[in-house]
Amino acid sequence: MLSYRHGFHAGNFADVLKHCVQVEIISYLQKKEAPFDYIDTHAGAGSYALASDMAQKNCEYMNGIGRLFKISELPGLQNYLRLIEGLNPEGALQQYPGSPLIAAQMLGPQDKAWAFELHPSDAEKLRQNLPRGRQYQVREEDGFKGLSSLLPSRARRALVLIDPPYEQKDDYQRVVDALKLIHRKMATATVALWYPVVERRRIDALEKQLVATGIRNIELFELGIRGDAEGHGMTSAGMIVINPPWTLRGQMDQLLPQLAADLSADGGSHYRCVTLAAE
Ligand SMILES: C[S@@+](CC[C@H](N)C(=O)[O-])C[C@H]1O[C@@H](n2cnc3c(N)ncnc32)[C@H](O)[C@@H]1O
Repeated sequence: MLSYRHGFHAGNFADVLKHCVQVEIISYLQKKEAPFDYIDTHAGAGSYALASDMAQKNCEYMNGIGRLFKISELPGLQNYLRLIEGLNPEGALQQYPGSPLIAAQMLGPQDKAWAFELHPSDAEKLRQNLPRGRQYQVREEDGFKGLSSLLPSRARRALVLIDPPYEQKDDYQRVVDALKLIHRKMATATVALWYPVVERRRIDALEKQLVATGIRNIELFELGIRGDAEGHGMTSAGMIVINPPWTLRGQMDQLLPQLAADLSADGGSHYRCVTLAAE
């Protein structure tokens, strides 16, 4: 059953962390002219109107992009913020981009993107929100399954973003299986996995499973706006990056303490930058 709709959450603190990491990875990949492939296994609708009923229901973006847009001077956020500003040319914050649209803003003509989205209406919106043409392929399929046929990717370089809703509890296992599959088929790919902290023990178990895979070069970046509290929804969120740009750890070491201070909900904010497996 597909009940998750990203429109309720677009632009919240977890999106800020996820998309900031995404922007920094793509910026780094673009320093070389050689093409790369972008694969988004759980793509969403691509763009979200912040005045919509969904976004206004809990106004989650207000403690995310809403706090940072046009105000934040954090150096590590500037690439990300310029991109959001570019998509809001009238100056006010009206639209928040999803991960496939962020990629589309950054990809060069030699790069290619695949976006999987299972929800029929979000898949249709995504088709409308992405540029037309063969460079961007939207697939209304299970991204965990579809991923396999794309690897190893045509270009020798790839970024795979894995961003499931974790509403189905087997998503916690499916992400580990996906990381193992990617490693087996294309060990050099950069993989960015998003996770929410709703029950801390699930993330502790996820980290242990990842370390046990033997995959090397894994960094974890986590931002919490409250202390862990089961039964209170998502209190923190993180990105686990395999084969990150070598610059990413330093950027996050600087950015996360400042973001945690700026987005704290009740004084219980925190962050983690951890090497889960060295190179
Ligand atoms: C967290 S949202 C994605 C947000 C998007 N990555 C972004 O950052 O803007 C997760 C999306 O995955 C979709 N979805 C759920 N299970 C899926 C699956 N097995 N394959 C592809 N899409 C799936 C949901 O409909 C939802 O739109």
